[in-house]
Amino acid sequence: MWEIIILLILSAVAFFITDELIPNLTDLFVKAGLFGIDLCKTSKKKIPEAIGVISGCVFLITSFLFIPVVFGNGLMDTQHFPHNEFAEVLAGLLSICCMLLLGFADDVLDLRWRYKLLLPTVASLPLLVVYYVNFNSTTFVVPIPLRQWLGVSINIGVLYYVYMGMLAVFCTNAINILAGVNGLEVGQSVVIALSIILFDIIELKGDQFKAHTFSLHIMIPYLATTLALLKHNWYPSKVFVGDTFCYVSGMTFAVVAILSHFSKTVLLFFLPQIINFLYSVPQLFHIIPCPRHRLPKYSEETDLLHASRTIIVKKEMTALTKLILRVLTMLHLIDKIEDEESITINNMTLINLFLIKLGPIPEVQLTKKLMMFQGFCTGVAFIIRYPLASYFYDS
Ligand code: UD1
Ligand code: MG
Repeated sequence: MWEIIILLILSAVAFFITDELIPNLTDLFVKAGLFGIDLCKTSKKKIPEAIGVISGCVFLITSFLFIPVVFGNGLMDTQHFPHNEFAEVLAGLLSICCMLLLGFADDVLDLRWRYKLLLPTVASLPLLVVYYVNFNSTTFVVPIPLRQWLGVSINIGVLYYVYMGMLAVFCTNAINILAGVNGLEVGQSVVIALSIILFDIIELKGDQFKAHTFSLHIMIPYLATTLALLKHNWYPSKVFVGDTFCYVSGMTFAVVAILSHFSKTVLLFFLPQIINFLYSVPQLFHIIPCPRHRLPKYSEETDLLHASRTIIVKKEMTALTKLILRVLTMLHLIDKIEDEESITINNMTLINLFLIKLGPIPEVQLTKKLMMFQGFCTGVAFIIRYPLASYFYDS
């Protein structure tokens, strides 16, 4: 119990330090050429980019300082020192640390897409190795209705490691592509972090007590430093968080999902990101043209955001493009304008989908609506996780 109190105090200090550091360091970032222009504003001011590196560093330092608090007792009694748990914490923090470094490299060097997929895979290796040594459990419990065909559980062996590696790649990139309006990257991460913390608190009474305490040890300092970042990134943004932040957040969620064994629940909290990813697939795989930026289009006259668009030349359309367009039109999921030579549709992101359904709205309203949707999905996740899960699983 006293450990949690120390963690809360350390995290509160981390919040104030991050909040203080951000405005003090922003000039350094601009001077180093790390800045971006807010594409949804009239002013073309230089806004410092990659500020997620500050909150990320304070988060890591807080977690390091907390290690002697948790493992201090064990140092007196070296024979019973919990090496396994210690290795888990270290591997988790190492993966997050790698992601911070690689994310910052991405912000500075503007890496290409294929590297964005490779980086989280490499950074998740320490995590997978420790999983192999400590648990190496690669079985999935089969839902009750499917048991007559598949049995109670199936061992998927090495595929389980592929699944965990892909989880890290998904979590990091999914946050990065649900971005482009002030406060959204950080806002969605705060909602996900709060959802995980709530889940941990509910589960603390259960038999997975240790796993959920581990998750809280990582999530509480993460939430504190992220809230400080949100203060500066909220509309109108004084700083941009950069891919550094998206990668650190995604990896932090992947670390707790894997080492605390609740990856399915974490994926439920990622529902908006999953929807955004699936909707984006045709553009991500270039079946439909994908511009460098898909963020909404700002109208200076009205100060409102409209859905941004992409143009498909009819002559270049493949059968697959036509099929996708037909299905999406039927489902009312795209806004299409057609002339003789081309078809113009909205860029396929959840943000633009909100805009075509809810009309042009101010930026801050859009961020709030998307965050409310994220919160709503957490509610759905808890309903699936608790009342419904009992129909599919024994406990
Ligand atoms: C991802 C998205 C891209 C989106 C971008 C916005 C995909 C495949 N990529 O690219 O469509 O446009 O994120 O972050 O979906 N910016 C703003 N306001 C904000 C946040 C960012 O104007 O609130 C602009 C700034 O110019 C900033 C830039 O976006 O400098 C950052 O973009 P970056 O993170 O480099 O884009 P990607 O992650 O590659
Ligand atoms: Mg980005």
